[in-house]
Amino acid sequence: MTILCHINDIEDDSAQSFDVDDRNIFVVKKFGKLFVYLNSCPHIGIPLEFLPNDFLDNDKRYILCSNHGALFEIENGDCIAGPCVGQPLEAVPFTVEDGSIRLL
Ligand code: FES
Repeated sequence: MTILCHINDIEDDSAQSFDVDDRNIFVVKKFGKLFVYLNSCPHIGIPLEFLPNDFLDNDKRYILCSNHGALFEIENGDCIAGPCVGQPLEAVPFTVEDGSIRLL
């Protein structure tokens, strides 16, 4: 199992990306809960962020695709606005063991 980082390495209301094998994924922490997604927008399959680890909108309420402005629910990856409404981000299975985030 690949260890990404310790849960305390990611601050609340922020996100961090990781290269794992041939995938780029990102972890979002919101209200102390963690969510992990493939960094690929369902609109046209390219990375969401322009700046490193900049995956959230200004209010830190949604995941934002910087390319064409799609908004995704942090909790389930559902697209609720933009050109790919109804197409969710791909969730990446993970677990937390001894404070470390591990991919399954
Ligand atoms: S690539 Fe994400 S909204 Fe177009």
